[in-house]
Amino acid sequence: MKVEFYEKVFLVLTVVVLAAGLITIGASVLVAGVHVPSPAARVDPRTVAQTPPFDQPGLREIAPGKYEAVILARAWFYDPKEIRVPVGSTVTFKMTSADVVHGFELEGTTLNGMLIPGQVLTMTTTFEEPGEHLFICHEYCGVGHHTMFGRVVVE
Ligand code: CUA
Repeated sequence: MKVEFYEKVFLVLTVVVLAAGLITIGASVLVAGVHVPSPAARVDPRTVAQTPPFDQPGLREIAPGKYEAVILARAWFYDPKEIRVPVGSTVTFKMTSADVVHGFELEGTTLNGMLIPGQVLTMTTTFEEPGEHLFICHEYCGVGHHTMFGRVVVE
């Protein structure tokens, strides 16, 4: 009798926990609009070096205090390696890889993403304080992986 009771309790709990999980996932997708990141654009990795804006990597001002930083990742460097912006700038990074999957993590910010050949990643942040932020490749990409880094200098 007692064993049957506990069995029923656990059966009911299993259904309740499962239902709670499904409702949470359903609500986050349908109500809160949570979704996996999708590429901002696509680009052919074979011709990316000739395709705007990746044919001219670097920083450009798109509005007062707003910049776009175009970075092309290759084994095993970022082009460009260094970006200099004034304090208070809002910078949108537009990035992709010309060969294998690389990573991009910008120290001291929330920017962290994967650079996947064929997909364009955009991430935006504002630099409120002067200083240096190292960015590194955090996805193993071959023998030169550990040499793949660059920096954002806020001046
Ligand atoms: Cu690029 Cu690791």
